Amino acid sequence: MDRFVVALDGPAGSGKSSISEIIAKKLGFVRINTGAMYRAVAVEVKNRGLDPDNESSYDFLDDINIIYQNGNTMVNGKIISEEELKSVSNLASRCSKVKKVRDKMLKFQRDSAIGKVILDGRDIGTVVFPDADLKIFLDAKLEKRAERRYLEIKGTKIEQSYEEILNDMRKRDFEDRNREIAPLKMAKDAILVDTTDLSIDEVVSKINNLILDRMRGK
Ligand code: DC
Repeated sequence: MDRFVVALDGPAGSGKSSISEIIAKKLGFVRINTGAMYRAVAVEVKNRGLDPDNESSYDFLDDINIIYQNGNTMVNGKIISEEELKSVSNLASRCSKVKKVRDKMLKFQRDSAIGKVILDGRDIGTVVFPDADLKIFLDAKLEKRAERRYLEIKGTKIEQSYEEILNDMRKRDFEDRNREIAPLKMAKDAILVDTTDLSIDEVVSKINNLILDRMRGK
C-alpha cells in the first residue's frame, strides 16, 4: 500500500492528540499533529513581537520550514518545547484565521504526509486531504472537554481554573468554527465518534477497528 491517509478532526479537548499518538504507535502510522504546527507559528509571532492579525506579519513564513516529526514540532530544524506550544492556544487560533498562514500550513502538511499517516486537526478531512482514505470526527460535550484539559494541566506550571479553561475553550470553539477560511466542521463523509462517555481505551479500540476495516477494503 503506497499511501493511506486517516484524517482525525475535532474541537479542542476531544481527544485527538492522545488518540492519534496511541493509534500511530499501535498501527505503525506516521502521526502529524497539525495543531502543533499552528502553535509553532504562534510561538514565532510571539517571539518576533508581530501583530497576529496582520497578513504582512507572516512574510517570515517564506523563509522558514515547519515540520512535525517523531513527536517534535520543529522550526528550521529546531525543536519548540511543549511548554511554549501549550502556552499559545488562543494566539494559535488567531494566527490560524490568516490566509497566508493556512496556505503555508496546507503545503507543509501535504508535503509531510508520506506512507501510512494519521493527521489530527480541524480541516484535514475538509481541506487538507478531502480524498483521505478514512475521515473521523471526534467530538465531546464542552464541559467534558474542559474537564479533561483541567486534569491534563493540573500539576504543571500552567495555572488555570476549570472555569477559565471552559470559557477559553468556548471562545476558541466559536472562533475555529466560524472563521472564513477552512473552519472546523465535520466532512460529509466523516464518521462521528462522540467521546463524552468513552474511556481512551474504548475510543482507541473503535478507531483501530475503523482503520483496519477500511484498510482491508483497499
Ligand atoms: O489542536 P490544537 O488545539 O493544538 O490547535 C491549536 C489551534 O490551531 C486551533 O485553535 C485552531 C488551529 N488549527 C487549525 O486551524 N487547523 C488545524 N488543522 C489545526 C489547528
